[in-house]
Amino acid sequence: MINEIQIGDKTFEILLENDNISKRTRLIGIQLNVDYENRCPIFIGVLNGSFLFMADLLKEIEIPCEVGFIRVSSYAGVSSTGMVREAFGLPEHLHNRDVIIVEDIVDTGLTLNYVLGEVQKQKPASVKVCTLLFKPAALKAPVEALEYMGFEIANEFVVGYGLDYDGLGRNLKDIYREKTVPAPLP
Ligand code: IMP
Repeated sequence: MINEIQIGDKTFEILLENDNISKRTRLIGIQLNVDYENRCPIFIGVLNGSFLFMADLLKEIEIPCEVGFIRVSSYAGVSSTGMVREAFGLPEHLHNRDVIIVEDIVDTGLTLNYVLGEVQKQKPASVKVCTLLFKPAALKAPVEALEYMGFEIANEFVVGYGLDYDGLGRNLKDIYREKTVPAPLP
C-alpha cells in the first residue's frame, strides 16, 4: 500500500485500504444473500466506475442471480457537469424482476436518479441501490432506494478501485482522496 500518489497535477493520499473495502464488501454480500434468498435478482453495474466493486461484490453472492451493466457518464475532470448521458443501455427484461443497481459512488445523485428512472420504466418488482461510497454533503436531489452502502465519505474527490481522475487511477487497489494544500495565512 502506497500512502501518497501523484496523478496528473494532483496529489492523493490514502483513504480506504483494499482490505477494508473487501471486509465491507463481504458484509454487504452476506446481507444481500439473506435479503434476496429465493428471488434471483438482477445486479446492474453502473460503468465505468463500478467494475471492480461489482466484480468483488458478485464473488460474495451465493444465491442465483443475473448480471448486467449500464454505462452512464456525467463527469468531466473533478466537478459534475450536471449533465447525464447514457452511452449504452440497460438489460431489457426487468419487468417484474428484483433489480439491484450497483454504483461506485453517489455524489450529486444525478446519475443514480437517471438510472432509477430508466429502470422504473420497465416496471420491475423492486429496485434497490448498492453503492460502495456515498458523499451525503454533495447530494443535489434525494435518492430513493439507497439500501446498501459501503462507506460514507466527506465531500472530497477520490480515485482508485474503479474511480478515476480524468481517466486515470481506476486500476488502483486502494481508494485515495485529493490532498488539499492548506490556504496561506493572510
Ligand atoms: P453523481 O451523478 O454526481 O452522483 O456522480 C456519479 C458519477 O460521478 C460516479 O459514478 C463517478 O463515476 C463520478 N464521481 C463522483 N464523485 C467522484 C469522485 O470523487 N471521484 C471520481 N469520480 C467521481
